[in-house]
Amino acid sequence: MENTINFINEKTDDFVPEIGIILGSGLGEFADEYCEYSIPYAEIPGFIKSNVAGHKGRLVFSEIEGKKVVMMQGRNHYYEGHSMAEITYPVKVMKKLGVKTLILTNAAGSVNESFRPADLMIITDHINFMGTNPLIGPNDNTLGERFPDMSEIYKKDLVKLAEKCAEKLCIDIQKGIYFASSGPSYETPAEINMARIIGADAVGMSTVPEAIVANYCGMNVLGISCISNPASGISDVKLSHAEVIETTDKAKNRFKSLVLEILKEL
Ligand code: HPA
Repeated sequence: MENTINFINEKTDDFVPEIGIILGSGLGEFADEYCEYSIPYAEIPGFIKSNVAGHKGRLVFSEIEGKKVVMMQGRNHYYEGHSMAEITYPVKVMKKLGVKTLILTNAAGSVNESFRPADLMIITDHINFMGTNPLIGPNDNTLGERFPDMSEIYKKDLVKLAEKCAEKLCIDIQKGIYFASSGPSYETPAEINMARIIGADAVGMSTVPEAIVANYCGMNVLGISCISNPASGISDVKLSHAEVIETTDKAKNRFKSLVLEILKEL
């Protein structure tokens, strides 16, 4: 870890970010416009070396709306075969760099039948259905405690703030519970039916490991899902990654203005 932090500090002239943003599928463009320093993951000690599919795969540092921000332009996923520890390492790095608030974003399928493709949803809580937990293993007491409380990962104040920002921008916003499956296959209709019955509103293959680790490290988490498709069995349409990317593209301007407004208000 020390190695990683020293390397980053040297590349960024000791830039101290207070806010972290992880940009999900189709939402990475945001970082292109605000880029004071950027470091490809492949160069960073401790980061996964493989490419992030469809993403640049780099850390981007910039001041945006008066806030010092570090962004992950693209993330690695559990379904690629990386360990939970590997995919959540960047969250621990952000914590050590100074990040207090982490904004997690993703593309997700809708389980809630009132949601429409390209809707934005503020995450109020999650269901971890990935079959594992990123905190399994010896505990690093310098980061957090062995049995962290998870009763308010997605801080209510941040949910309110995001809602207020959306309202100001006249963006219709949904709120709901994110259900994480490991992927890479999409879910079956029966699995989505179960997710709906147990309270899920949206489903995806990321975010939850990062949220668990960020909460454990004492960071405040805000989650925003871009609804890219009706989940399996919610409509007759077969799911495809191309559809996911196409729909997030439609939402990206709204997503961008919402994130900018949130940064201004934070
Ligand atoms: N299921 C899981 N992950 C997803 C989906 C989905 O329907 N859409 C985008 N990511």
